[in-house]
Amino acid sequence: MNRGLAIYPGSFDPPTNGHLDLMERGAKIFEELVVAILRNSEKSPMFSVAERLEMLRALTGHLDNVRIDTFDGLMVEYAKSMEAICILRGIRAISDYEYELQMALMNRKLEPTLETVFMMPADKYSYVSSRLVREVAQAGGPVKGLVPEIVEQRLREKLDPAYKFRDEPKEIVPEIVAGREKKRKKRA
Ligand code: PNS
Repeated sequence: MNRGLAIYPGSFDPPTNGHLDLMERGAKIFEELVVAILRNSEKSPMFSVAERLEMLRALTGHLDNVRIDTFDGLMVEYAKSMEAICILRGIRAISDYEYELQMALMNRKLEPTLETVFMMPADKYSYVSSRLVREVAQAGGPVKGLVPEIVEQRLREKLDPAYKFRDEPKEIVPEIVAGREKKRKKRA
């Protein structure tokens, strides 16, 4: 059996426990698994490609045969350039099937030699999607257990208004220092 290289493409905005579960399953089947983040998505993402790359690298550090990459344009072209033997996609529920079937058949039309392989994540993640995770997190709800801890942390940082403040210390520090100095002089 040719175990070869498979591409697991997606938006991963953000990566969920379902994604990670699928990567772990895929890593057992294929010789090499390349998780490929789409760069030119029309959607306006919550996390930049660089942030998603960093999160995915951290999450898959324990999987020796998993690599993280990004791609632009047609996925089948990218897969061909990587000499992949197949595309890996996850199917959670029957509702995913229609979209996934359409995509798999379009990809087959574009590149007949490339197969799409579907795998199911653990049933406990069957309702978990990046979109719902974003929605829950944006509304201040808990996402514990739905995403890995590092993603939970990044979501907290992104959505916590104080994070912006923490992010700009270089600009604000001189002002704070000057203000304190002024107050000190007044008191003296
Ligand atoms: O995680 P997603 O958003 O469901 O992933 C969708 C993705 C990135 C796999 C798909 O949109 C894709 O492959 N886009 C690249 C452009 C392309 O090849 N389109 C034709 C696919 S039928």
